[in-house]
Amino acid sequence: MSGRNSIHFFDYLRQRESLGGRIDGAIARVLGSGHLILDREVERFEGEFAAYCGCGSGVGVNSGTDAIQVALGAAGVGRGDEVVTVPNTSVATASAIRSAGATPVFTDVLEDSMLMDPSLLAGKLTPQTKAIIPVHLYGRPAEMDAIMAVAAERGITVIEDCAQAHGAEYRGRKVGSIGRAGCFSFYPTKNLGACGDAGMVVTNDGALAARARMIRTYGWRRKDFSEGPGINSRLDEIQAAILSEKLPFLDGWNGRRRELAERYARNLSDQPLVLPAAGEGIRHAFHLFVVRTPVRDALAAHLAGRGITTLIHYPVPIHLQPAFARPGEGAGSHPVAEKIQQDILSLPLYPELTGDEVDAVCSEIREFFRSQR
Ligand SMILES: Cc1ncc(COP(=O)(O)O)c(C=O)c1O
Repeated sequence: MSGRNSIHFFDYLRQRESLGGRIDGAIARVLGSGHLILDREVERFEGEFAAYCGCGSGVGVNSGTDAIQVALGAAGVGRGDEVVTVPNTSVATASAIRSAGATPVFTDVLEDSMLMDPSLLAGKLTPQTKAIIPVHLYGRPAEMDAIMAVAAERGITVIEDCAQAHGAEYRGRKVGSIGRAGCFSFYPTKNLGACGDAGMVVTNDGALAARARMIRTYGWRRKDFSEGPGINSRLDEIQAAILSEKLPFLDGWNGRRRELAERYARNLSDQPLVLPAAGEGIRHAFHLFVVRTPVRDALAAHLAGRGITTLIHYPVPIHLQPAFARPGEGAGSHPVAEKIQQDILSLPLYPELTGDEVDAVCSEIREFFRSQR
């Protein structure tokens, strides 16, 4: 271990400190208001965040997973339906599809962007397909024009999984505003994070928003009167108030993430690593900085030995996990996702990380590859 401190993957305390009492102030404001659940703070943040995304409505829920489940239900997707998504996303995406009563169907990804391959999509659609969920994984927007075109041809709903891409843009439009609805997670590590679980559905479809609002509270339009199916997925006033305080900082934080990502890329350009690919017409939100190398496990162990935390997003493709395995869809069925999962490594990246820390991670990576020669 060198003389410096450990470099964590994420450090919530640094962000709290940088906000100079705003988070604590928001909590105190709610505690003093006497309102804790689905009240003025939630309404305010729903309006603010929907507007930020270029959407007319926002429906606050308890998590990003619930946002997907609620959006699917509000779009009329349920039992007997199929929903197509990618196998290299968080298991939350598939889990939400199943909680909505539908069956997740996987389609492989492009090797350079690691996102949904639109050219394979049509081959996955059946008469049962009711929705497609592209995932803007790592903060990079998926190929929305091509995906929307395939969906429009077949009359299929597109729900965007934006859990890792707050503020990312595709051809000048914010993610979440391109499909019929966008689903966000505000898990603490996300680009915009709460101090606990929180999520939101954003949409320009007012009728879908109204149904989502009912589903999040037992199918109620008015209290104690269930008009349709529903669950309990409420957004707390405290989390909404914290998120309102943080939203004005999101663009600055995303800018800082891009700056640090460029610093990594400059520093590592001569190393035997595949770096995140550039993309045309997109504004990357760099939730994660993911590099690829066939010696991934050895590199991760080397960095861990120097006090540097790395993670794998995600270690096992979902179609190979027992809960989601389907007959005829074993190893080899989504070759690109399976290949990627063996060599991806996420390096520390968050707005409060210093340039020196990025340089320190890079110099340990250099040392690792020197020792491999
Ligand atoms: C791509 C993706 N989808 C969905 C989710 C689910 O969000 P949450 O953890 O808030 O339920 C996450 C976050 O973990 C995610 O990364």
